[in-house]
Amino acid sequence: MKAPRPKIGILDSGVGGLSVLKEIQHLLPQAELHYVGDSAWCPYGNKAPDLILERVITITDYLLDRGVEIIVIACNSATIHAVGALRATYPIPIVGMEPAVKPAAALTKTGVIGVLATEASLAGEKFHRLVNQHANGVRVITQPCPRFVELVEEGILCGPEADAAVKAALTPLAEADADVFVLGCTHYPFLRAAVEKQVPQGSQVVDTGPAVAKRVASLLSDDTDFSNTPPEIHIETTGDLQQLNLLLSKLLPGLDATTSVAKLP
Ligand code: DGL
Repeated sequence: MKAPRPKIGILDSGVGGLSVLKEIQHLLPQAELHYVGDSAWCPYGNKAPDLILERVITITDYLLDRGVEIIVIACNSATIHAVGALRATYPIPIVGMEPAVKPAAALTKTGVIGVLATEASLAGEKFHRLVNQHANGVRVITQPCPRFVELVEEGILCGPEADAAVKAALTPLAEADADVFVLGCTHYPFLRAAVEKQVPQGSQVVDTGPAVAKRVASLLSDDTDFSNTPPEIHIETTGDLQQLNLLLSKLLPGLDATTSVAKLP
């Protein structure tokens, strides 16, 4: 007998995790996805670990009430501070994410990689372990980019403001000879075009979205029944619904799915 398609829950501090939703939708076009962006509490990047954990638990409980069977923490900052507690608490698969330090360390030719991420992600013990385990012998230069999150939440993905913020973030990394740039926050892939335009020639820009999508797909049973199930995407926010609608047209243009947008009660 075929297995019914599972509802997949995805959460982030705001709209950044939509970069991960996009990858999941690309790999599993007929998936049923339930997304919550915690825009009322965004950014998580400068928040205390306890507060981040509390928010993630609140949203996870909400998604479980909606019947999701897999949770994707589409946020590096939230993963660092909440994935352990979530896995210990909930008996369903919890997929987290971490900056793509491992692939970057394998790709660098200069021996220097630049990691763009939030303060919360970079300050965690988990990040230091990641570097120690996977970037041995590689110089890892970190760069918090709080302005990137603000730009994406405002829907500013290109133009002079985005270019200036990207330039300020990339300059010290490029000067240190980095040739691989890690987008270590799920908001940042929405600024990928602005980043790619400004990295030194021959550099690479990597993020973890596609790997997370593969991990989610691997959790589904081989005989998952996607027949007669049109793609379904539910997107909710704790923030402003009008702003979310505006952002969706910029962040997910031409999304091929039945999409409902709502304000979290
Ligand atoms: N999108 C989030 C991440 O991947 C956090 C951005 C923020 O709220 O500071 O880290």
